[in-house]
Amino acid sequence: MFYSSRSILAFIIVALTSVPMVTEALADPVEPLALQKIMQDMGQNMQLITHGISQENWGLVEKTAPLIANHPQPPVFEKMKIFAYINTDMRVFKNFDDKTHEAATILGKTAASKDGHAVIADFATLQDTCLMCHERFRKPFIKYFYGIDE
Ligand code: HEC
Repeated sequence: MFYSSRSILAFIIVALTSVPMVTEALADPVEPLALQKIMQDMGQNMQLITHGISQENWGLVEKTAPLIANHPQPPVFEKMKIFAYINTDMRVFKNFDDKTHEAATILGKTAASKDGHAVIADFATLQDTCLMCHERFRKPFIKYFYGIDE
């Protein structure tokens, strides 16, 4: 016989135990926000900048910082959902976003001057703006939009 009864049994066990996982995934298809992808790209650009700093490749820092400063925005419909959720905290959220924009713009200019120490200081300032928004909004977003209570 091609399949032993043992392997058939193993297959049945695997199939049965997989069913609840599959149905769970089907029942709850939470699409990540476009914002999440935008954030991931910002994270990658931050890594690129760290790489640029350690290589003293100021050109790379200068080129990458504006990608953070002028990061894409979520589509209009998603923005409306986000605004509806944040509601009265909108100014706070927007203010954090502006701070990141400003800090990244400054970092790009400093990189053009090739002053490594100033670049590192400006990079730390930029990181701080990310952290400020995350401390305030990340967990509540994840809970509200994905139902995950971390
Ligand atoms: C105005 C608020 C705000 C600012 C400023 C901000 N973030 Fe975020 N970030 C968020 C929110 C909200 C989430 C959660 C989004 C989600 O999971 O859908 C997030 C999530 C992330 C994530 C995790 C993405 C994932 O895969 O779960 C990364 C990485 C990230 N941000 C990087 C950055 C970096 C780097 C900066 C600064 C250069 C930054 N963010 C600035 C609000 C902000």
